[in-house]
Amino acid sequence: MRFAVMASGRGSNFQALIDARTGGELLDVELVQLIVNKREAQAIARAEEAGIPWKFIDSEAMSRAEFDQRALTVLHECGTEAVVLAGFMRLLTPVFISTFRHHILNIHPALLPNFPGAHAHRDVLAAGVNESGCSAHLVDEGIDTGPIILQQSVDVLPDDTEESLAARILPHEHRLLPEAVRLLAAGRLKVDGSIVRILPKK
Ligand code: GAR
Repeated sequence: MRFAVMASGRGSNFQALIDARTGGELLDVELVQLIVNKREAQAIARAEEAGIPWKFIDSEAMSRAEFDQRALTVLHECGTEAVVLAGFMRLLTPVFISTFRHHILNIHPALLPNFPGAHAHRDVLAAGVNESGCSAHLVDEGIDTGPIILQQSVDVLPDDTEESLAARILPHEHRLLPEAVRLLAAGRLKVDGSIVRILPKK
């Protein structure tokens, strides 16, 4: 399956996909394109290093609809079959989502459906809960609301900061996201309303 990745920044989750592919864990997966919406995104250097074509589309310079149209054009041109949002900090339009319905994955640094949005760690600490984690899910029209595929919980410690909590969760993101990609590429995700069922290996 031909995957494109969309990212806004550091790109460590994108790197986890590159590494999983290099390590032979994603044999059915091709990473065909990176799209970034920030010129300074470190994900660009990772794409260059891995020989993956990348495209910068300036989200500040155009409407949401125009951004998505341009992204869709790029994705169609390279034969994209599925999209991974790897730290892509922008909401996609319904047109984009329906084009790749049930074929867009996102990684979120909290246990959804709790703590969606761009400031998950801050919100978790402010709520005083003792558990957080990460979720790999399919993207629908809401903010981090789509069907959950995989989750991993971690403890929140009394002296945690946003940084320490993020650092405890990130390695789990790097494991869950390639695993979700692998399941999608293997045709093992069955969407049943708002639930994803993971089909057994054939
Ligand atoms: C990751 O922690 C990811 O879960 C989060 O942004 C970070 C990107 O890191 N995404 C969200 O908060 C989406 N709501 P990365 O650029 O190193 O992959």
